[in-house]
Amino acid sequence: MAELFDLPAIIGGSGLQAMPGLDITERVDIDTAWGKPSSLITVGQLGGQKVLFLARHSDEHGIPPHKVNYRANIAALAELGASCIFAFNAVGGINDGLGAGSLVVPQQIVDYTWGREHTYSDSSDVALNYVDFTEPYDAELRTALIDAAVQSGCDIARQGVYGATQGPRLESAAEITRMERDGCDIVGMTGMPEAGLAREKNLPYACLALVVNPAAGKSGRLISFEEITQVMAERMPLVNTVLAEACNSALVTQKHT
Ligand code: HPA
Repeated sequence: MAELFDLPAIIGGSGLQAMPGLDITERVDIDTAWGKPSSLITVGQLGGQKVLFLARHSDEHGIPPHKVNYRANIAALAELGASCIFAFNAVGGINDGLGAGSLVVPQQIVDYTWGREHTYSDSSDVALNYVDFTEPYDAELRTALIDAAVQSGCDIARQGVYGATQGPRLESAAEITRMERDGCDIVGMTGMPEAGLAREKNLPYACLALVVNPAAGKSGRLISFEEITQVMAERMPLVNTVLAEACNSALVTQKHT
């Protein structure tokens, strides 16, 4: 497995169960101390770069956000020697400037999730690891994503605060108002504990978020799943391009080799 070492990894979320353009060379079945990851880890060539790919909700989009084994997912990528992680997340837009279809590279997180297995430091057998989380996302990976979007000729919000909610239900309008007061720009269900676990494993991590709907109460209408599907269909090709470009960026390929 040594040849898999030091590869960038992509964690695909809703709408990204498989990576178009990924020339698959291998699928790795790995077990970790925390159980099996959501899917086999796909190894393949994306553009010029060999990458790892993991479908967060499984290949069939079967695992709901609160049931994802985030610890196994991050541990599996760490054990395979991933150099860094690009996470893709579909989100709701809270900030009025972030309409459906917007791409965002968040720089901060507020965690509203509960009851998820969120740390590797959870027994007296292992050393307690108080990780710094002041800047939850890796600055170079964020730059790689932003540069990739600019090169692809698309607008991208260069920062934003990701509010991570429990799901799987969407939020009430009052919850979104509270999140807005807290400073959140986007809302999703899978940003945490994933980012925190990556930090515990010392894996540089950044998120590319696609706004697929205005958050609850933001549009004066109920959230429409037809509209979400339509936004996904229109924007996923761009998400793929940005992720592929970012994986091929010198900021990423030279980072850990
Ligand atoms: N809320 C939470 N998660 C989401 C949303 C939302 O509005 N849209 C996509 N994922």
